[in-house]
Amino acid sequence: MNVESVVETRFFREIKTFEVLRDLIKKHNIRKFEFWSGACATGEEPYSLAIMFYEMGLSNKNVKILATDINPIFLDKARRGIYTKQDVEKSERGGIIKYFREVEEGYEIDKDIKKYIEFRQFNLRDFDRYKALREKFEFIFLRNVFIYFPLILVTKILKYISTTLNKKGYLFLGNKEVYYSDFFKRDILNDVVVYRKKEKSIKEKNNFTPKNITNSNLKRYEPNLSLFINLIDKGKIKKAKQMLLFFNKNSFEYWFVNGVIEDIENRGEEAKRCYLESISRNPEFPLSHLYLGNIYYSKFLYENAYREYVYALEGIENGEWAKLLPKDNLEFIKAFLKNRIGV
Ligand SMILES: C[S@@+](CC[C@H](N)C(=O)[O-])C[C@H]1O[C@@H](n2cnc3c(N)ncnc32)[C@H](O)[C@@H]1O
Repeated sequence: MNVESVVETRFFREIKTFEVLRDLIKKHNIRKFEFWSGACATGEEPYSLAIMFYEMGLSNKNVKILATDINPIFLDKARRGIYTKQDVEKSERGGIIKYFREVEEGYEIDKDIKKYIEFRQFNLRDFDRYKALREKFEFIFLRNVFIYFPLILVTKILKYISTTLNKKGYLFLGNKEVYYSDFFKRDILNDVVVYRKKEKSIKEKNNFTPKNITNSNLKRYEPNLSLFINLIDKGKIKKAKQMLLFFNKNSFEYWFVNGVIEDIENRGEEAKRCYLESISRNPEFPLSHLYLGNIYYSKFLYENAYREYVYALEGIENGEWAKLLPKDNLEFIKAFLKNRIGV
């Protein structure tokens, strides 16, 4: 994403999510906690949280909000806390103007509200940085940011996010974002989907992995696309990567697997090339279309994305490939495609 670009956000965006959060905190009488607003943009989201906590009588000594974003320009604006009158009026909840004072450049948020928040730059793709946040948070907002990532990377980010949530914690995504992850169970509270950490990730259904593939049994299992997809799905990227060796370089599978790896490692152009190679060898395989569609989508090339999503859905509904995917994942992918295509 271009750092100069304007971002869509507003105070109390998707207000129901705030109401569900407030009810949870009240119900469990949680007075002390750490909160992560993981793609806070220009600050409207964490300031809305801080206003709500202030009104609930929660002290800024006991409640800390870490607000992060990749974009330093957005973060500068967030730290200043100065907004236009329209920004304040766009709030989905009324009555917040009392938390601002008029200054020369606009409306500045109250310093008591600012005290809840620490702003920091954080790239959600920077996986080395998650270690420092281990089991730190009771609550995480990660709303309306996954649109920038290929689906396959969302799976990986969710895995890392799960490590930063404490055992009883809750993750909230945007209202239109429903993702499947082996590391979370989903619940619906008052029409809002909440994600809770699973005690332990489900044991792999496969009782073989590349680790125990030896020369003698290699033949039996190669090339196993289903295993590869399973490993990726479970966030076992290293093991999945080793599988590349088992595919014939002329096969569509090889190019698909290669594409997924490039995708995860954030080399979008390479990934695109690999998916196209895969499609040229087997135009019916739906996942190459799906992931290529996601690359186009993240680059705002909606027409191209639409075309790929239509091919992907056709391929999946035709059934032949569906058996490759875990059942709930299949349902999720179908729903995802229908949503993006608008059917
Ligand atoms: C649409 S805004 C969402 C703001 C707010 N969460 C909301 O729902 O109103 C998406 C934000 O994601 C941020 N973003 C994009 N890629 C990111 C990344 N790799 N790591 C962290 N933030 C990222 C963008 O800078 C932008 O501020």
